[in-house]
Amino acid sequence: MPEIKWRNSQTLIQPMKRKIQITEDGSHTLYLPEMDEHFHSTHGAIQESMHVFIENGLKKSTKDELVIFEVGFGTGLNAILTLYHKGDRKIKYYSIEKYPITETEFKQLNYTEQISTVLNDYFQKMHTSPWNQLVEISGGFQLYKIEGDLKNTSLENLPKFDLVYYDAFAPGKQPEMWDEPILKKVAQQTSQGGLFTSYTAKGDVRRALIKNGFNMKKVPGPPGKKEILFGEKVE
Ligand SMILES: C[S@@+](CC[C@H](N)C(=O)[O-])C[C@H]1O[C@@H](n2cnc3c(N)ncnc32)[C@H](O)[C@@H]1O
Repeated sequence: MPEIKWRNSQTLIQPMKRKIQITEDGSHTLYLPEMDEHFHSTHGAIQESMHVFIENGLKKSTKDELVIFEVGFGTGLNAILTLYHKGDRKIKYYSIEKYPITETEFKQLNYTEQISTVLNDYFQKMHTSPWNQLVEISGGFQLYKIEGDLKNTSLENLPKFDLVYYDAFAPGKQPEMWDEPILKKVAQQTSQGGLFTSYTAKGDVRRALIKNGFNMKKVPGPPGKKEILFGEKVE
């Protein structure tokens, strides 16, 4: 893997290396040695994304047209699975990413081989499409990638979210991404009846979301994780 220069706006701040690894279901993930953190569960990247974001998120929404907001575009796995499982729905998919992966990295990822090679061109288009504008990826799926840091990016100009995929690094590794002010910002931009899903079951996260208008519950997690969170905005 090439050495990645992590950027903060225009300033190079530190080199971080990402390594591609195979998880137990045969699908790839990225590993950050300096943080000792994986992008996905080592029990299965596709298996985890399917469980947390598709089954516990997309499939629970009853809307025909929805705005999805993802925290951490990363490999694009959640985006490509959403496109594949969206059925007839129309989706506007907004995703924020501070450290976009490189072309060398996304070209090595085996997601479309594992899911369906029908998705090859869509996956390529997701990664090569310009940042900070709405791009048509396929009929009924538009992607808007925001290159930025969620901590200091205003969400107010985005359409209200019908579904939030909260896929930041783990609270133990990146606690500032799970603080109440940042969750509040996401909650305020979520529509009444909007859904929230994440792979964590952390009590502080659940309580911060309850405080900001969500009904939250713990639901069974994917292999390797007993419980995860699911929420609905009620206030
Ligand atoms: C757990 S990974 C998941 C990524 C993606 N959803 C996937 O399936 O590959 C977390 C992602 O959040 C990104 N990230 C880290 N800090 C961020 C920040 N402050 N603002 C926006 N994205 C951030 C990381 O670069 C990484 O891509």
